[in-house]
Amino acid sequence: MEHLKTQGISVPRLGLGTFRMQGDVCQAAVENALELGYRHIDTAEMYGNEDAVGAAIAASCIARDNLHVTTKAWHTNLTPDAIERAIDASLRKLGLAYVDLYMIHWPARDMDLPALFDTLMRVQAEGRIRAIGVCNFTLDLLRTAVEEIRAPIAFNQIEYHVLLDQTPVRSYLSRHAIPIMAHCPLAQGTLAEHPELMSIASKHGTSPAQVALKWLLDQDGVAVIPKAQRRASQQANLDAMALTLDPQFALTPFVAPALVDGSYDTSLRDLRANCWPGCRARRHRSRHDGSCRRVRDSLARVRHALVGRDRAQGDRRGQRSGKQPVASELGGEPIFELVHRQHVGLGG
Ligand SMILES: NC(=O)c1ccc[n+]([C@@H]2O[C@H](COP(=O)([O-])OP(=O)(O)OC[C@H]3O[C@@H](n4cnc5c(N)ncnc54)[C@H](OP(=O)(O)O)[C@@H]3O)[C@@H](O)[C@H]2O)c1
Repeated sequence: MEHLKTQGISVPRLGLGTFRMQGDVCQAAVENALELGYRHIDTAEMYGNEDAVGAAIAASCIARDNLHVTTKAWHTNLTPDAIERAIDASLRKLGLAYVDLYMIHWPARDMDLPALFDTLMRVQAEGRIRAIGVCNFTLDLLRTAVEEIRAPIAFNQIEYHVLLDQTPVRSYLSRHAIPIMAHCPLAQGTLAEHPELMSIASKHGTSPAQVALKWLLDQDGVAVIPKAQRRASQQANLDAMALTLDPQFALTPFVAPALVDGSYDTSLRDLRANCWPGCRARRHRSRHDGSCRRVRDSLARVRHALVGRDRAQGDRRGQRSGKQPVASELGGEPIFELVHRQHVGLGG
């Protein structure tokens, strides 16, 4: 397994996401993944599954040095005292003496970043965390953390997949040698049924999910943490690493040309504002895989609208307009408004 080296840690580029899995289901999924060869597990205090992840790790008997474990502090614990208590609570639940990567899960408007990083760096020096990371940090927040505070950030974990161009954040992170940990790399499972990906996958004799993951893995400084409960999906995601994608699909979001006129950005924001909080409500989840039907339905509507518009406008595939609204997802303040308006409703 290829690794990314950052801030003194070496992290397998493919990890297992565990959002929306708890208890025995989570423990079994993590045990399966470890058996298949996964050595990178992503959890968070908010997922309510650190105990299950810890039980799976203990059952695996894998040497601690050979395993990378990430966990995260929820936005309600972003004061120096609270985050230290949260770290100790996570370690207790995981049954570990340290985690490899400890992340701020979602920014909070009133967090005192210098004080938080002071605490995290002290805890790091004491050995309870090996490296510090952030999630969902905007460009403004990254500038503060990196240039003003000079915090040793090992990763920014952000939503990143073929439907979401993150060029501004990627460029900034790459200039500062900070890798991306791509969360929702399959757009919460939606990409497994994406028509365009299906057609690319069939040309490669593989699956749409594998194409989506390899598209990310082909980029420097990107790690991925797809969540997969099913053993077959876990294996398929491992196998994706060996896939060779036709170079024409490398490095540009291949669905972006159809999206750059702005409508997808709006749709995505609407999706997030109107739909993602619903993901947290049990009634909107599929009984079988915990995915959000409303997200799938809304994405399908967006897709159909775009396909119709593209047909009307002719095939613009391969063209890129100068306007890149999708890419601005983490480029400024709006995410704060979304996050706080929805009481951090974006989940995961
Ligand atoms: N830091 C943050 O704010 C944040 C936010 C969101 C997520 N995350 C992290 O990122 C991880 C991944 O994101 P996510 O769980 O939201 O979504 P995701 O990984 O994009 O998608 C997960 C879905 O894809 C399905 N899937 C996985 N592999 C597949 C394959 N090979 N073929 C077909 N379907 C496949 C899974 O099905 P099955 O499970 O049924 O196999 C599941 O329904 C989370 O679990 C979490 O650890 C972090």
